[in-house]
Amino acid sequence: MSTETPRILVVDDEFGMREGCRKVLSAEGYGVETAEDGVAGLELFMQHPGFAAALVDLKMPRMGGLELIEKIRHVDQDIVLLVITAYATIETAVEATKRGAYGYIPKPFTPDELLLPVRNGLERRSLTIEARRLREEQDRRLLEIAFERSKLNTIINCLTDGVLVINRDKQIVLRNAAAARAISGLSVLTVPGPLGDTGCRDLETVLSEALNPECRPMIVSRELSVRDKTYMVNASPVAESGGDVLGAVAVLRDITELKRLESTKSSFVSMVAHEIRSPLAAIEGYLELVLSERDSPQALKENDLINKALIRAQTLRCMVSELIGLSAMETGNFQITRIPLGIKEVLTDVVNTYKTRAQYKEIGVSVDLDASSESARILADKNAVTAILSNLIDNAIKYTPVRGHLSVRVTKAEGCLDIHIKDDGIGMSPEEQSKAFDEFYRAKNDFTADVPGTGLGLSIVKRLVEMHNGKISLTSEPGEGSEFVVSLPLAEQG
Ligand SMILES: Nc1ncnc2c1ncn2[C@@H]1O[C@H](COP(=O)(O)OP(=O)(O)OP(=O)(O)O)[C@@H](O)[C@H]1O
Ligand SMILES: [Mg+2]
Repeated sequence: MSTETPRILVVDDEFGMREGCRKVLSAEGYGVETAEDGVAGLELFMQHPGFAAALVDLKMPRMGGLELIEKIRHVDQDIVLLVITAYATIETAVEATKRGAYGYIPKPFTPDELLLPVRNGLERRSLTIEARRLREEQDRRLLEIAFERSKLNTIINCLTDGVLVINRDKQIVLRNAAAARAISGLSVLTVPGPLGDTGCRDLETVLSEALNPECRPMIVSRELSVRDKTYMVNASPVAESGGDVLGAVAVLRDITELKRLESTKSSFVSMVAHEIRSPLAAIEGYLELVLSERDSPQALKENDLINKALIRAQTLRCMVSELIGLSAMETGNFQITRIPLGIKEVLTDVVNTYKTRAQYKEIGVSVDLDASSESARILADKNAVTAILSNLIDNAIKYTPVRGHLSVRVTKAEGCLDIHIKDDGIGMSPEEQSKAFDEFYRAKNDFTADVPGTGLGLSIVKRLVEMHNGKISLTSEPGEGSEFVVSLPLAEQG
């Protein structure tokens, strides 16, 4: 509100009246300027704009009060216009009001009769100006908000990632163009609309999980296939500063091209690995053949070198097989066929494969199958079980110093067979045990530095065991040895 002294214009052809008004109004603290007729009054008003009020006599030479009122009102909507006249009639009052006068002061009047309408008029003028200022401020804020909102909407709509926001009732409250394109049916949905109408159950599940109080404040990430596209969806709860969850937001990133590249890369690795594996297997076969035919005393020294070459070739082939397995698992091309399987035959084959290596390190191998486990059948994929046992036996031989011992024992438990693979090798610290099943993890110590390996074996074993709904456990003591127990479900209970 303005704090300036209000200026009042008094226009009257009677000198006494002008000066009388000036005296009364000045005493009240108003700034007063006077004019002797309508023309002079209009001139003053135009030259010094900003009057808060004007007191105008009706009957004046040159220009009468009604005309002056009309002209002033035309220029200033807020000024308080009061008519002062001795010729008060209803008609002139109505006419003056029509032209914009606020009130009427009949002559003669006392100081109070003058001041009261002036004060009221000025009060009303201030209120009108303040109300207009507030309204304009509000309009400006509204415009700003609308602008900000439309700016935000424009930005969200321009994002290449899909953005979808739902409220607690699973109604979509916001979605951008990319989200509409990504999810079939969504483009025709009005917002707000039910999430269920998207027809995309996986998206519903991800967003429901993000709304679930138990998973807060986690981000739920999932790959989603919609028609021929793959999306990575990251959903998280939308919470107020107080922590109350208002809904959830999902960001959908198109990773179709990334998946294609990934699969191309894996296929390439797998192709190269396959190409390496065959010649390696052939070299291994030739070496074994040469060894089996060379038992003359002079050939024994050479046998040692050939043995070493054989072990290196076997190690390389194992690595290549692991890489092939891993890439197949990652591209989802790895499938197992579970059939009722006796463990004895598989176990014997694997142990035989590792015989040369164990003998070379003078590691004693014992195999112990009790009668019940010999007759039992597990529901498993033969190649997968071979890979599981091979990796564990390979490790037991690799991480056990010369003249150690490896024991393989099979026992029947509740609904499953337990295969214990125990060595008295270098063992693992608790920290090493916790990481042993991670991809590419290898314990770093003087012993392992000389042992070849990729760190993939156990991670593959774990995945394979889990694909069979089985379990694997590890107990180990540094310097004492390690024991892995693989539990695989039986084909038939009992
Ligand atoms: N029986 C064991 N005794 C001691 N340490 C072991 C044993 N088995 C595994 N480890 C430790 O766990 C690590 C991971 O084993 P994993 O079989 O995954 O990889 P790797 O044997 O190094 O290589 P790969 O099996 O791929 O040829 C090994 O590097 C080793 O440090
Ligand atoms: Mg290994």
